[in-house]
Amino acid sequence: MNQRHALNLFNFSKNYYSNVATKTLKDFMPSTIGDIPTSPSVTYIQDIISPLQRKVYIETYGCQMNVNDTEIVLSILQKFNYVRTVKTDDADVALLMTCAIRDQAENRVWERLHSLKHQKPQMKIAVLGCMAERLKSQLLEKKKLVDVVCGPDAYRDLPRLLEDMDLYGKQGMNVMLSLEETYADVKPVRFDEKSPKAFVSIMRGCDNMCSYCIVPFTRGRERSRDMESIIDEFGFLVDKGVKEITLLGQNVNSYRDVSNDSEENINGETQLSKGFSTIYKPKVGGRRFHHLLDQVSLKYPNVRFRFTSPHPKDFPDDLLYLIKERNNICKMLHIPAQSGSSKMLEKMRRGYTRESYLELVDKIKAIIPDVALSSDFISGFCGETNQDHLDTISLMETVKYDMAYMFAYSLREKTHAHRNYVDDVPEQVKKERLNQVISTFKNIIREKTKKFIGTEQLVLIEGDSRKSNEYFSGHSDQNYSAVIKKNQDTKNVKVGDFVQCKVVDTSEKTLICDFINLSSITEFNRTT
Ligand code: SAH
Ligand code: SF4
Ligand code: F3S
Repeated sequence: MNQRHALNLFNFSKNYYSNVATKTLKDFMPSTIGDIPTSPSVTYIQDIISPLQRKVYIETYGCQMNVNDTEIVLSILQKFNYVRTVKTDDADVALLMTCAIRDQAENRVWERLHSLKHQKPQMKIAVLGCMAERLKSQLLEKKKLVDVVCGPDAYRDLPRLLEDMDLYGKQGMNVMLSLEETYADVKPVRFDEKSPKAFVSIMRGCDNMCSYCIVPFTRGRERSRDMESIIDEFGFLVDKGVKEITLLGQNVNSYRDVSNDSEENINGETQLSKGFSTIYKPKVGGRRFHHLLDQVSLKYPNVRFRFTSPHPKDFPDDLLYLIKERNNICKMLHIPAQSGSSKMLEKMRRGYTRESYLELVDKIKAIIPDVALSSDFISGFCGETNQDHLDTISLMETVKYDMAYMFAYSLREKTHAHRNYVDDVPEQVKKERLNQVISTFKNIIREKTKKFIGTEQLVLIEGDSRKSNEYFSGHSDQNYSAVIKKNQDTKNVKVGDFVQCKVVDTSEKTLICDFINLSSITEFNRTT
């Protein structure tokens, strides 16, 4: 790991950050480990391990990247003699991996902090993740609920912060953001080791600065992991029996590995989708997202690959043709629109218009005819008129999404929108518009799901259906949830198997299927 650089956003106070060099904790702590590589510019207690095994209770809020970050944190803590417990009763410390995307997300965490403190006052509490980064010392000050605050790029420092809290009863904080930290060398400890699905972060941060969004402030600048470390991790997961890997990143398809710029791809192309722009200077060179997908999908033909969350600007033709060509890259793409009104999109600083977005959708559908699409939408952004809202509804009806994540706008401090616009759509109107957006989606999806009746699907078995153990549950290539009726022929079917099945009925967004036979990605695509 090279030298770290602190950003302007970096903010920690000496009061919270004890000077490790003067404390010589080695005097107190006997045994040693020492295999967590760190930046030479930052001092960590990397060679000290507590003789006591301490128990951590963990709750994770927010997006999939937070789930993966929790697994990274667990891996770091395990090396320092911490073990996970699922009960607060026997926990020494509770870690809350938090989200700051909307007010509501933060409110849930505040409520939980109060209830944990009430339930077990002696338990120490650490707040990690995006809310830690956004609120910084405010979290330590408020009602003395929190003992440690640790931002998304400072997890290697968490053991030291927890040690300081344990030994000196000190509150601690590290919210330093990094230009380089990707935790590439930390092998996450998977929560559910038996699951056939795994999630791997391939990049972190976001440079897009959409005007409503807090993520660039909580996650810092965009940076990608080197390709080799990703391929290594995939190999490890596949050896463990993983059958589906989701590549993660706040802008996953902006991935660009510049660590090893070979002649392979240094032709300088920026390859933004047509009609798309960025507020930052276009990036050039490096091995890009489709190079990575190309390599891994070839190497593991019987492993499914998904990715989230992409930005519409980074769907070059090479990527679209690769998705079409490879049977193991799922034909379900997330193309977050946010709004159907060009005026709103401009205010949101999304870098495209309704027309260029729809042009991209048309192109995707033309290249990958059986593609399923999903999107995110925000209702009630600053200055949104009823006509803008109707433009969103009509965009949804035109594209006919297979999945949508829909939110009411929540003002975030520090963002461009906070500084420049007025949050002028009344809460009641936001809610009404959101409800209309949700019911538009529901109408679309009901019809879409029905169209699968009579088709054959390849489903990855994830377990028994929650509603009835007479059915298996899993997901189709296009990420529709599926249940498969068990019968005489399914006796040997187990979690992690791909099965070929026929859709006989649907309910809302679930495919109800009859089993045909055990299969694999290559076999299924040869026979259908
Ligand atoms: N990087 C991803 C997702 C980031 S957050 C992307 O660009 O798609 C996930 C979603 O939360 C966003 O797509 C957006 O729809 C929503 N979101 C972000 N900020 C929000 C805010 N201030 N209020 C309401 N929804 C917001
Ligand atoms: Fe937020 Fe936009 Fe970045 Fe997504 S692309 S994380 S919405 S700033
Ligand atoms: Fe939330 Fe941070 Fe993810 S704000 S959505 S946890 S990147």
